[in-house]
Amino acid sequence: MERIKTIKTEEDALKLLNIALEHEWAVSFEYLIHAYSMPKAKFFYRDPIMKIRADARRQTIQIGIDEMYHALQLGIIITQMGGTPSFKTDEVIRYPRIIDNLERDKMTEDLVTSLYQSAEFEEGAFPKIRNMVLNISYDEVRHSQQFVAMMESMREEKADDELMFQSGPEAAGKEEVRLLHEIMTMENEIMHRYLKYTILFSGHQDLSQRLFKNSIDHMKHWDKNAGALIKMGDVIRIENSEKDDAGVEKSTKAMPDSYPGEDRLTALVTLVPAEQAIIDKYDRLIGMIPDGEIKDQLMIQQGLDREHVFTGGWLLQNARMIKGL
Ligand SMILES: [Fe+2]
Ligand SMILES: [Fe+2]
Ligand SMILES: [Fe+2]
Repeated sequence: MERIKTIKTEEDALKLLNIALEHEWAVSFEYLIHAYSMPKAKFFYRDPIMKIRADARRQTIQIGIDEMYHALQLGIIITQMGGTPSFKTDEVIRYPRIIDNLERDKMTEDLVTSLYQSAEFEEGAFPKIRNMVLNISYDEVRHSQQFVAMMESMREEKADDELMFQSGPEAAGKEEVRLLHEIMTMENEIMHRYLKYTILFSGHQDLSQRLFKNSIDHMKHWDKNAGALIKMGDVIRIENSEKDDAGVEKSTKAMPDSYPGEDRLTALVTLVPAEQAIIDKYDRLIGMIPDGEIKDQLMIQQGLDREHVFTGGWLLQNARMIKGL
């Protein structure tokens, strides 16, 4: 991660915000990958802030969602300043042992806290940005403390050597697993595409919030599908990753670094075909899955995507009809 210390000009401010944004995209994604590779409700810890016994996996997901809100805040302010938000991401890593991932997450939090807290703003320069950056930094401080508590509790329970879920070679060869991975990629892409449009149209609040709602729907699908993969004997994949001899996976291109659409019409026109492609992929997958919980869930998700097709079609038609938008 690049560093920028002194903020004097608008260019400095935009640079800091975009460095931070690239980081927030990557960590929101990385934390979710880490969480989705851990068993549910198995590792509990005493949360130092909430003062409750909490599930480490669940809280890691919550932290990932916090990071996504940070990304949104940054993207919106960059757009308002006339800049272009970056969708590039930093490196994403997964270690075989759960605790090593938590250690990385904690380190990441400390690194970004220092990026935010060491930025020196000239007196009176960009007060709102300065305030935003400080406010975000204290979320990172909290996250760091939470990751520390998770690790302490794992050490106390002698769970240091507990492993993340691994991809079973037999499961990974199955057609339905392959399809589900493809759907995961598509869900992740469209979730971020909607986030881009949420940012792009942030000056048009009702449209922006509507697109944000669809993004959240896809985030939930991604979450459910990650659980389905575990039930099928596999685990969420990190795209374009390389695994070293120690089993550490690294990718510098785990997500797309750009999404189509630069203005209202060129953005909205992309949604229906993208949703339809996901619906078609679900059709193929659902046809291969036996009746039961997973199939029911997939059908609910596909149904919601059909809702998005309906809504998305009208968003485009209405935008074309009204002059002066
Ligand atoms: Fe963050
Ligand atoms: Fe954080
Ligand atoms: Fe959808």
